[in-house]
Amino acid sequence: MTDASLVERRLRALGPGLRQFYDFPFHPVRGEGVRLYDAEGLEYLDAYNNVPHVGHGHPHVVAAIARQAARLNGNTRYLDETILDYAERLLASLPRGLDTAVFVCTGSEANDLALRLARAFTGGSGATASTTAYHGNTVAISALDVSRSPDPPQPWVATVPPPPEGDPDGTAYERGFEQAIAALAGRGHRLAAAYFDTTFANEGLDKPTPAQMERAVGRIHGAGGLYVADEIQAGLGRMGDAMWGFQRLGATPDLVTMGKPMGNGHPIGILVTRREILEAFHKRDRYFNTFGGNPVSCAAGIAVLEVMERERLQANAACVGAYLTARLDEISRQHGEIGRILGAGFFQGVEVRRPSGEEPAPDAARRVMNEMARRGVLVGLTGPARNLLKIRPPMVFARADADRLAETLDAVLADGFGQPN
Ligand SMILES: Cc1ncc(COP(=O)(O)O)c(C=O)c1O
Repeated sequence: MTDASLVERRLRALGPGLRQFYDFPFHPVRGEGVRLYDAEGLEYLDAYNNVPHVGHGHPHVVAAIARQAARLNGNTRYLDETILDYAERLLASLPRGLDTAVFVCTGSEANDLALRLARAFTGGSGATASTTAYHGNTVAISALDVSRSPDPPQPWVATVPPPPEGDPDGTAYERGFEQAIAALAGRGHRLAAAYFDTTFANEGLDKPTPAQMERAVGRIHGAGGLYVADEIQAGLGRMGDAMWGFQRLGATPDLVTMGKPMGNGHPIGILVTRREILEAFHKRDRYFNTFGGNPVSCAAGIAVLEVMERERLQANAACVGAYLTARLDEISRQHGEIGRILGAGFFQGVEVRRPSGEEPAPDAARRVMNEMARRGVLVGLTGPARNLLKIRPPMVFARADADRLAETLDAVLADGFGQPN
């Protein structure tokens, strides 16, 4: 079947709303480590996909899924050691006090449940998120995404600007929370939950300083609200210098949500919180998730943690990530259209801007991304202006892969794809 006829079938069966990633049809049929292979056998370096966290088709994860699927699949209402082993191993990686896990299937479900728990515990109803945040697709959580919602903002949602530069003691960042909390109060909503994507990717990958975060969380707690750390992108060592993104920011969250990378492609979502918060929820409500925490998913989750440890993948993200930053810095010095290199570890952004100045150049960034894919290197786009090339590979990305990425980017820029049209 040709790619053209697949495009037509896709349009007919899945509808017109589902965009394709690149401006040409991309049809991968096999993956291994950081490589994808398309239907014609062409090989691609995958520097974009964070869901296959320990690499596409990792044999240890595949075997664990197959073994557990052959033995038994079930749910969290039965006694099951695989579920408990996974929960205990995860909880051991978190600060004391974050002692209870609830299993769901997606990041959106984890964030949705976090809101329900926060409301039950605090008695408030309001929530804050950053002006460009994305935390998921349920009715409640998509309301946090004020910048992209077609509907007027919900009265229980208020947005906060990203952490400003030049705010040494955090007062300016805190003021954003103060104003959001006051706006909520003015509409009759006391703060329940403040959401942070701990990569700050949609904000442009600039994270707050510890002083800014301390002031922000102090203000949230002062208003009776809870701090939700959304680890769906940052978690499991991706940033290199910490297992969880919130550990890079300072303050300890009240609720932590996890998703994407946890099962290496198997759908796992998790909410971790303090026992008292879950208990407050269970006093008035109940929660059961049919597939959340099923033993096959948990076997996949355990296998991912084992590979992380055995292959020292967090250290790999720190070390190869730093090497990649250095290579990208070199490129930014040679090409005027490349600005700052942002992020850390295996979540980095390359700023594409107009060569004459600081102005973002999202169209040029898109052209560079598409041309890199044509030349066999997959990256994405992020940032409020969508002008950052998003580099977010599986954790087994090696130095030679960083070299290939840098050389391809350099060549694509030398051929003029980063220039304004
Ligand atoms: C930061 C963040 N939170 C939540 C989600 C939602 O996760 P899911 O698509 O698994 O529901 C995403 C997905 O892109 C995300 O990037």
